[in-house]
Amino acid sequence: MPKVSTTGLFEKALAGGYAVGAFNVNNMEIIQGIVEAAEEEKAPLILQISKGAREYARHEYLMKLIEAALQISDLPIAVHLDHGDSFELCKSCIDGGFTSVMIDGSHLPFAENIALVKKVVDYAHPRGVPVEAELGRLAGIEEHVSVSERDAIFTNPDQAQEYVERTGCDSLAVAIGTSHGAYKFKGEAKLDFERLEEIQEKLPGYPLVLHGASSVLQEFVAECNKYGGALPGAQGVPEEMISRAAKTNVCKINIDTDLRLALTATIRKVFAEKPAEFDPRKYLGPARSAIKQMVKHKLRVLGAAGRL
Ligand code: G3H
Ligand code: 13P
Ligand code: ZN
Repeated sequence: MPKVSTTGLFEKALAGGYAVGAFNVNNMEIIQGIVEAAEEEKAPLILQISKGAREYARHEYLMKLIEAALQISDLPIAVHLDHGDSFELCKSCIDGGFTSVMIDGSHLPFAENIALVKKVVDYAHPRGVPVEAELGRLAGIEEHVSVSERDAIFTNPDQAQEYVERTGCDSLAVAIGTSHGAYKFKGEAKLDFERLEEIQEKLPGYPLVLHGASSVLQEFVAECNKYGGALPGAQGVPEEMISRAAKTNVCKINIDTDLRLALTATIRKVFAEKPAEFDPRKYLGPARSAIKQMVKHKLRVLGAAGRL
C-alpha cells in the first residue's frame, strides 16, 4: 500500500467521531511495534518524525523503514513531520516524500507565525502536501493561573479562525491544557473543553490536533522507578479526557512519551533481571512488544481501532 495523505484520514475521523493516533518514531523497533499494533487493531495510522528523530536516524533510514512497513502491510500510513521549526526543514521533508508536515510557529508573535505558516503552505499545497500549524502555547492548567493568564497562553477561538483563514493551514494544533513530556500537571489534571468547543464553533468541520496527549500511565512510571529510573510526580492526561477529545473535531492525537516510558521500563526490567545481558535483541525485542501493546491500547482509547 502506498503512503496516504492525512486529508483522507481526517475526513473519515471527523465523520466517525474518533481520532487517528500519531506516534513518534526514531528507530526500527518503534516503527515495527506501532505498525504491528495498528494492523492488529485495524486502525489508520500516522507515523511522525521530529527534527531530532530525523537527525538521530537520518531521513533516508526512517523513510526506508516505513516503506518496508508499507510493502508488507495493507495499512494506510501517513508520514508526518512533527514540530517542523523552519521553512527549509519542511521543504526538505516535502521533497523527501513526507505526506504532511507541521510547521510550528507557536512561539512567534501572531503575524510572524502566520507569515511562516503561509510560506510553508504556499510550497506544500502545489505538491499535494497538507500542513499542520499551531496557535497557542502548550502548558498545563495550574491552579494559581488566572483566566486572563490562561487566555494569553491557550488558543484563542477568534484568533484561531483568523489564523486558519490567513494561513490556509489544513489542520490546527490547539493549546487547551496539554503539554509535552512526563510532567504535564501539578495537582489535578484539567483540560479546557469549553475552549475546545468554542474553537470548533469558529471552525466548523475543521480538523484539530491535540499534542502532548500521553497519559503517563502509573504502572510504567512505577516500573521505571522500581528499576532505577526516578520519575517522581510524573503525571499525564487521564485517558478518559483523551477519549473525550477524540470524539470532538480533534482528529489527530500525538503520543510519544507513553511509548518512551513503555520502552524504557521494559529495557530497565531486562537489565535488572539479567545484568549480564548484552544481546540487543534480548532487550529491544521485549521493548518492541511493549510498544505494540501500548499502541494497541491507545488505538482503542482514541476510538481508532476497527476503522479501516
Ligand atoms: O513533541 C515532541 C515529540 O515528543 C518528539 O520529541 O523532539 O525529542 O524527538 P523529540
Ligand atoms: P507527549 O509528550 O504527551 O507524548 O506528546 C507528544 C507530542 O505532542 C508530539 O508532537
Ligand atoms: Zn507535539
